[in-house]
Amino acid sequence: MHFQSECSKKNIHQKPILILDFGSQYTQLIARRIRELGVYSEIHSYDMDVSLVKAFNPAGIILSGGPDTVTSDGTPGVPPYVFDMDIPVLGICYGMQAMAAAMGGQVSSSANKEYGAAEVNILEDSLLFEGIVDEVRDDQKILNVWMSHGDKVVKCPNDFIISASTPSAPIAAMAHKSRPWFGLQFHPEVTHTHQGKRIFEHFVHRICKSDPVWTPTNILQSAVQQIKQQVGEDQVILGLSGGVDSSVVAALLSRAIGDQLTCVFVDNGLLRDGEAQQVRDTFSKNMGVNLVSVDASKDFLTALESEADPEQKRKIIGRVFVEIFEQESNKLTNAKWLAQGTIYPDVIESAAAKTGKATVIKSHHNVGGLPAHMKLKLLEPLRELFKDEVRELGLELGLPYDMVYRHPFPGPGLGVRILGEVKDEYANILRKADRIFIDELKAAELYYKVSQAFCVFLPVKSVGVVGDARQYEYVIALRAVETIDFMTARWAHLPYEFLEKVSNRIINEVAGVSRVTYDISSKPPATIEWE
Ligand code: XMP
Repeated sequence: MHFQSECSKKNIHQKPILILDFGSQYTQLIARRIRELGVYSEIHSYDMDVSLVKAFNPAGIILSGGPDTVTSDGTPGVPPYVFDMDIPVLGICYGMQAMAAAMGGQVSSSANKEYGAAEVNILEDSLLFEGIVDEVRDDQKILNVWMSHGDKVVKCPNDFIISASTPSAPIAAMAHKSRPWFGLQFHPEVTHTHQGKRIFEHFVHRICKSDPVWTPTNILQSAVQQIKQQVGEDQVILGLSGGVDSSVVAALLSRAIGDQLTCVFVDNGLLRDGEAQQVRDTFSKNMGVNLVSVDASKDFLTALESEADPEQKRKIIGRVFVEIFEQESNKLTNAKWLAQGTIYPDVIESAAAKTGKATVIKSHHNVGGLPAHMKLKLLEPLRELFKDEVRELGLELGLPYDMVYRHPFPGPGLGVRILGEVKDEYANILRKADRIFIDELKAAELYYKVSQAFCVFLPVKSVGVVGDARQYEYVIALRAVETIDFMTARWAHLPYEFLEKVSNRIINEVAGVSRVTYDISSKPPATIEWE
C-alpha cells in the first residue's frame, strides 16, 4: 500500500519510514512520533513482501516491539532483506532482540518482566544519542526511559557495541560499528522516555536524512490536488454524521471540488443536544456546502421499538441509516463517488483483521458501510491520516475547534447510551442531562482533560424526595474516562465537588431523573460505553 501522489508540488511522502510491526501495543505510537517530526511513515506486518518494501522505497526501517520471545522456535524474525537494503534500521524492544538474534547475538528469556520507568547509562555517544542526556551524575550520562520487557539481549552480535546499559539490562542499547543499525531495549515512543522525541529526531532527520515535509499545510495542499485529479468533473456524495472524520472530509472536499459535493445528513433522533443544528449551521450556512438534511427520527425510533439487545440495536440503526441514505442519494442521479471518512487506524485494523490478528468486541456501526449495489466508487481522502492529523487538517480547513476536538461519539449515538429499549422520552431526558454534564466539564476546564465523557440513561426507577414530595424517577450514570487509544481506559478522577454540582443540577433541572451515579469502572474489564 503506497499512496504517493505524483502531482503534489512538495512530495509529502518523500523519504518515508517503514515500520515493521511485531505486534506491540505501541506500534501506532511509533508511527505518530515519526510523523510529528514531519516524516511520513507507514505500518506493515513484519513479514511484508520485499517487492512492496522496495516500491515503498523507505529511507529507514523501524522494527517494533512485540509480545513474542525470539528464544522460542517459530516466532517472528527480521526478514533478511532488511539488512541488505543499505538503509538505516532501528530495532525497538522485541525489534532489537530480533535484530540481535538475526545477526548472531544472544537473547535470554527471563520470567521477571521489567516494566516501568528506568535510568539508563549512556556508554557510547552513537549518532542516535549524540548530545542527548537527562542528567549527568558521577560522570555518568543518564537517560530516563520506559522499559517493558521480559527478554533481553545478553550478547551483542559481532561488530556491534553496547551504547547504553542498566543494572538489569546490561545491553540496553546497541549500535553497529560502521553501519547505521541501532537497537533500543527501551521505548522511545512513549512520553515516559523523556528524550524519546529527540532520539527519533536523530534517527529520521540525521541518520535517514528525511526532511520534515509532512505538515498540515502540505498535507492539505497535496490532498486537494489529489482529489481534483481523482474526481475530475464527477459528482460526489458524502454521508455527514457530524463526527470529526466525516466533517473533515466534507470541508476538504468542499475546498477541493466545491459544488460537485453533496452531503447527506441523516438525523436519527439519537444525536446530542443541538448537534443537528450545529451540522446544518457549520456546513450549509458557513461553508456553503450542498447539504441534504433529513429528519428521520421517527423511522429510527419505530424500527427500534421493543428491541433491547445492544447488538441488534446497532444493526437496526445501521440498516435504517443505509436505507435512508440510499433513498436520498438515489435522488442525485449523476453521483459517481461515495466519500468516506476512513482513517489510517481503520486501514491498519482491517489489514490486521484479514490476517486474524484483531478481535471484534462490538460490531461498531459507522456511517458509510453501504451496499455494493450502489455502484459508487469509493473516495477516502483521510486513509493515510491518524486521528490527530485529521484534527489538525480540520483546523487548517477552518472548522470550529469545538467540532474538531469534540469527544468521540459512537455511530449509533444515544441508541447505545439508553440501556435496553430506546424511546423518544428517554432520549430527551438523556440529551438534557448530557448537556449539563458537558457544559459543566467545559466550565470547570475539565472537558479536554478527559478523553470521553457522557451520560447514560438507566431505565430503572429509584425513589427520591424533592421538597416534601416523594419521587420515583429514572437514574442517570455519568461516565468519564482517560485513555490514549480507547482500547484501555481509566475512569477519570473528577473532583467530588464537581460531581456534586453536576448531580444537583441534573436532579433539579431534568424532569424524570431522581438519582445520579458515577461510573468507576476501568476498561478492561468494563467497556467505555455501557452497551
Ligand atoms: P468501548 O465501549 O468499546 O468503546 O470501550 C471504545 C470507543 O468506541 C466507541 N464506540 C463506538 N463507535 N460505533 C462507533 O462508531 C459503535 O457502535 C461504538 N461502540 C463504541 C466508544 O464511544 C469509544 O470511544
